[in-house]
Amino acid sequence: MKHTVKITINGVSYQHEVEPRLLLVHYIRDVVGLTGTHIGCESSICGACTILLDGQAVKACTLFAVQADGKQITTIEGLASSDTLHPVQEGFWVKHGLQCGYCTPGMILAACQLLQRHPHPTDEEIRHGLEGNLCRCTGYQHIIEAVKYAAEKMAAGPAA
Ligand code: FES
Ligand code: FES
Repeated sequence: MKHTVKITINGVSYQHEVEPRLLLVHYIRDVVGLTGTHIGCESSICGACTILLDGQAVKACTLFAVQADGKQITTIEGLASSDTLHPVQEGFWVKHGLQCGYCTPGMILAACQLLQRHPHPTDEEIRHGLEGNLCRCTGYQHIIEAVKYAAEKMAAGPAA
């Protein structure tokens, strides 16, 4: 039996009939068509599918779409505002925080939560905050630099 879900993603409200077994990551990618959220392990290990659910970073392969009914989601497509990258996106760009980019959407959204909790993170806090997200390319140091860049930019506030 299908269930009706109403989910707001990046400020847009969606309503669909879904099977109760449909994973949230498949809902986002295949039903809504937002393919910036990636799928790696499908077992809660790699973090490629990380999104913000009501502001909390979660792995979208560990939830069913029906569990997100009535909630607000932010995916990587919702972070930039018009032509301006989010500071974390800018940090990954400026500090070469990505190579293949497969882990990057999940890394960036996990970093957003990290910076909410630790606006001025130490390297250790960044490593701890991103330990649920795996990258096979970068060796992580550039990612740490990217998050520190974003922290400084966010602390400085929006440009006049
Ligand atoms: S695909 Fe969800 S954690 Fe790997
Ligand atoms: S940049 Fe390739 S997996 Fe992270």
